[in-house]
Amino acid sequence: MTVRVGLVGAGAVGARHARTLAAFDDVELVGVCDPVPAAAGALAAELGVPAVADLDRLLRAGVDAVWLCVPPFAHGDPELAAVRAGVPFFVEKPLAADLPVARRVADAVAAAGLPTATGYHWRHLDTVERARQVLGGDRVRLVDVRWWGTTPPAAWWRREDRSGGQVVEQATHVLDLVRVLAGEVTEVVGAAAPSTREARDVPDATAAVLRFRSGAVGTASTSCVLPLPTAAGLDVAAAGVSVALTETSLRVGTAEGVEEVIPTVDARRAVDRAFVDVLSGRPRAPGLVDVAEALRTHHLACAVAEAARTGAAVRVGEP
Ligand SMILES: NC(=O)c1ccc[n+]([C@@H]2O[C@H](COP(=O)([O-])OP(=O)(O)OC[C@H]3O[C@@H](n4cnc5c(N)ncnc54)[C@H](O)[C@@H]3O)[C@@H](O)[C@H]2O)c1
Repeated sequence: MTVRVGLVGAGAVGARHARTLAAFDDVELVGVCDPVPAAAGALAAELGVPAVADLDRLLRAGVDAVWLCVPPFAHGDPELAAVRAGVPFFVEKPLAADLPVARRVADAVAAAGLPTATGYHWRHLDTVERARQVLGGDRVRLVDVRWWGTTPPAAWWRREDRSGGQVVEQATHVLDLVRVLAGEVTEVVGAAAPSTREARDVPDATAAVLRFRSGAVGTASTSCVLPLPTAAGLDVAAAGVSVALTETSLRVGTAEGVEEVIPTVDARRAVDRAFVDVLSGRPRAPGLVDVAEALRTHHLACAVAEAARTGAAVRVGEP
């Protein structure tokens, strides 16, 4: 079976998904669109597929699914258009720059019963599954999660109302893994170092303390003032075992010694493959995060961002 897909948003991550999808034997990339015609045109020309004027036309072209690779502020309308057309979609993280749009999308998806997938690709790393097994959830007592890096070049990234801020846009990847490895967070307190750059209102840094339902505690920190990416990952302490996880490495410490593990999975490819498999009627890979599950992570990220912004204790909402 050939799966016919369309792609919206021909930016950095849209180009990555389009190249991955175009390389699958069982996928036909029907077209790409972007409000900047030159962006759609360049990607379409590279892959030898049509540039399409807008999502409506893509949906009318008869697609089995669309990949929505738009910036955080642009969510809502594309997803609701796909739902109205009855077309399953893959959507990049975060679900939105804020909670209300993400909730509206999740409600519409649930009512329609449509298959969805999201760009939380770290969940496809075999090292994440290994970490989950060695930690055994309940024994986790402490988590330290970090995203320390640069200020990305996109203008939208620098404005909190456009990107959601660094916690919501970037640290969401590792906050998602906090949920996988240590369970749900119930409450967050935090503080932020305000921006020292005129063109950016995203804070220079944030720091938060997390309280877990299990009784465990954690810290979450971000910074975007560094000259190069420095740390994105999490350290976990559990009774008798420690775990240090990044996108490219896993270190497990026990009384027997330290084990270093390198992922054998290309998670960025695996996330696309997994959703194509769903669309083809094949079994669902356990790492695939649908919109409903992504909404839980978005609730956590929004709570961490709000706690840092306001200094108040924030309860993590539930979908
Ligand atoms: N999962 C990952 O590893 C990963 C990596 C990078 C980015 N992302 C996410 O992907 C999203 C896009 O990031 P990016 O780096 O590709 O950004 P980008 O700025 O490079 O590209 C965004 C593209 O979307 C287009 N666009 C803007 N508004 C639109 C709208 N209303 N409708 C349709 N298209 C619109 C822009 O013209 C641009 O071509 C972000 O949410 C980001 O968090 C995920």
